[in-house]
Amino acid sequence: MTTDTNRIRIFDTTLRDGEQSPGVALNHTQKLEIAHQLARMGVDVIEAGFPIASPGDLEGVSRIAREVRGPIITGLARAARPDIEAAAKAVESAEKPRIHTFIATSPIHMAKKLQLEPDAVVERAIQAVTYARSFVDDVEFSAEDATRSDTAFLIRIFRAAVEAGATTINIPDTVGYTTPEEIRALFAEIRAALPAHVILSAHCHDDLGMAVANSVAAAQGGARQIECTINGIGERAGNASLEELVMAFHTRRDHYGFETGIRTRELYRASRMVSRLSGMPVQPNKAIVGDNAFAHESGIHQDGVIKARETYEIMNAELVGREAAVLVMGKHSGRAAFRKALNDLGYTDLTDDKVQHLFGRFKDLADRKGQIYADDLRALVEARSDVPQTFTLEGFQITSGMNMTPVAFVRLQTPDGAVEATAHGDGPVEAAFQAINRITGLNPELESYRIQAVTKGGDALGEVSIGARHGETTLHGSGVATDVVEASARAWVRIHNMVVAGMGTERRQGEFAPGRI
Ligand code: KIV
Ligand code: ZN
Repeated sequence: MTTDTNRIRIFDTTLRDGEQSPGVALNHTQKLEIAHQLARMGVDVIEAGFPIASPGDLEGVSRIAREVRGPIITGLARAARPDIEAAAKAVESAEKPRIHTFIATSPIHMAKKLQLEPDAVVERAIQAVTYARSFVDDVEFSAEDATRSDTAFLIRIFRAAVEAGATTINIPDTVGYTTPEEIRALFAEIRAALPAHVILSAHCHDDLGMAVANSVAAAQGGARQIECTINGIGERAGNASLEELVMAFHTRRDHYGFETGIRTRELYRASRMVSRLSGMPVQPNKAIVGDNAFAHESGIHQDGVIKARETYEIMNAELVGREAAVLVMGKHSGRAAFRKALNDLGYTDLTDDKVQHLFGRFKDLADRKGQIYADDLRALVEARSDVPQTFTLEGFQITSGMNMTPVAFVRLQTPDGAVEATAHGDGPVEAAFQAINRITGLNPELESYRIQAVTKGGDALGEVSIGARHGETTLHGSGVATDVVEASARAWVRIHNMVVAGMGTERRQGEFAPGRI
């Protein structure tokens, strides 16, 4: 039974701390897509960004505040008036707005980074919370680097913040330094020192690989909100992983007795979405969402699982949205079966037009590949284009081999009709990219290139994810096909379409670079 005392609120910061992962930059459409998935999954709070960082960040948070219903929407603000004003503006149209303000409290941060005396830090915290409360009723206050701060000082600043109106107090392990025993004791001490109505929150980083264990221990010490990210992405080694925390609480509720409000069947979809849009792969052996998390390789294990799953599985793959039953479709499958398969995989929100378009791609794929599995279908849906199609790939031919220069011939559909070009490059993919550049007249700079098999086997679909730079913007695009050059060309064309649609993300630098928060 869920009661107020055993309910853990899940505060997702994928779009803020997660976006601070090196190399990750999400545009507004991508952020909105993730925010909708977080809401579908039932998170309690979405930290949608850091609005003072740039006008683009502010607009990104505002769009989520306007369009996403259900969770509390918050924006991060340093303990400074311009930051708080930007956060207040960004969340003003949210159904449930929150401002999250923070200042560092450890001796090293106060002396070296802020160059402020502890008294001045307390004063800044009081002013920040008071000012934030003049905009919203729900204010969270964080003491950055709390786990390396003096506990008596923490209690002093937290009491002052609560008196000024903070309703949630967050105790971050900013540099991933603490241990489960220490953080549990810290939370218990702070819990005893603050009024009962104040929610305590944990925010743990993974520098020593203990972010999830530390978050769970914090809950045992009194935390009732946990800050985490999908796939554990975030600054440096990342944050506590949402899916691991939620499944630890769920699977071991006999031991911990905590409940979250998360619809666990949405976890896998969220993980794939974040990996695809952020361009950050999930390691195969990652708990809950990694490719191997439910795979049994050794004969002894396989034998055991066939006889009784529970021999080697502590949770069902279905429970986290990964079906164990293999779904196979082929070129004879009709539209109704196709729609039903999509529904079964959780894609219930697709319009008829989108399903129609996907059905065409499904038939093409079935012609080439024969049997289509659940992961193939997911890849098709997730590769659907949310970018206006100024250019579409119509065909290509590559000549490549040892001791010869690869040459690509590419045909794109453009606003002026079909256009063809030929180019050479260092490899077949580069040649295809050069030919595409010739047709579009654009010249984005390739920054990262990643390829992975979406399914297993020789005829697996390959997914190519590309990071590129165009002027002052960063772009990420992906393409899926059974042929890796085709997947690459699709991803590259998508980048060009994003350039034309102005969908890049501004590159952050200087004062608001993530590391400077
Ligand atoms: O790690 C940290 O301390 C943070 C705070 C800004 C909450 O991300
Ligand atoms: Zn953090």
